[in-house]
Amino acid sequence: MTLRINYFDVVQRAVGTGDAKRLAQAIERLSATFRAGRPLSYGDVETRRAYLWHLLPAHVTDVSQLLEDHPALFEGAALKVVALGAGPGSEVLAFLDVLTRRRARGEPDRLARVEVQRVDHFGSWDKDFAALYAAAREACAERDPAFGVDYELEAPASGLVADLTLPLGVKVRDAVREADLVLGINLLSELPPRGEPELPEGTVGALRTLYAQLKPGAQVWWVDREGAPGVRERLEAAADLALERPGVVRSELRTRHTRCGSKPTRKTRTLYNRVKLPTTKDQDQPVLNCRTAWVALTVGPRLEGE
Ligand SMILES: C[S@@+](CC[C@H](N)C(=O)[O-])C[C@H]1O[C@@H](n2cnc3c(N)ncnc32)[C@H](O)[C@@H]1O
Repeated sequence: MTLRINYFDVVQRAVGTGDAKRLAQAIERLSATFRAGRPLSYGDVETRRAYLWHLLPAHVTDVSQLLEDHPALFEGAALKVVALGAGPGSEVLAFLDVLTRRRARGEPDRLARVEVQRVDHFGSWDKDFAALYAAAREACAERDPAFGVDYELEAPASGLVADLTLPLGVKVRDAVREADLVLGINLLSELPPRGEPELPEGTVGALRTLYAQLKPGAQVWWVDREGAPGVRERLEAAADLALERPGVVRSELRTRHTRCGSKPTRKTRTLYNRVKLPTTKDQDQPVLNCRTAWVALTVGPRLEGE
């Protein structure tokens, strides 16, 4: 049996709770902001920390499981990934999780090197990422001592700072050009104005540029909260834009339901004793279920003259 990693423990080791009363209030504000569809800024430390406790463990499970469901990803020797709207790096943690879980289980993966470049509006996530990455790497090395020896994951400490409602900068374009996989997870639903079915006009331009950079064989996956207003329309629109490039194949919009693989720890339960969400008592806990809609795009070979 492979060692289970508890991501509430990882969050605790990485950032702790600080002032638990203030953190509980920040979780209440975060949850209320999501429910009301109001704009959300991750510029302050309390909102970021609330995000880590309330959502990160469920998101890591969801992305890790989505990756595991695609064994072809593990067949090449190396994989370059760009994660758009990566925030604290849930996608990096998910790759660490799935790579070490598969190896520890004895899967004969060829994949020996994964590089993940985070891209986000807020550079302030870098500090949280550094702490989470260190704590997660430690847990993963415990799970599989061959991690870091036989195979490795590289994720730069600095994410690329970019507003994806504006034209794409050179650094993001360069990263996308080399990518085998571009992930956009829980990003489209957060672009302003939230809750609207249309993509921001600036994002339409940015995505056209992004799709034009992709190399043949590259994939893009858009994943988002299924129930959030306007999300399905935004996913469809983001996917359809890719079809302007000849040779791109898109999947149908599919849905998934993942249960968080981490059980709230004693620390988590103590924290949530202070959290009052205006729903039912049993929802005064972190998010433990992810219902997502997602779509995958694959770039075909370049056509003559392209
Ligand atoms: C809900 S978090 C998702 C984080 C991570 N992908 C996950 O699923 O756990 C959304 C992220 O999108 C980023 N974001 C929101 N608007 C953005 C924009 N216009 N450009 C780039 N990133 C943006 C936020 O800063 C935040 O980190």
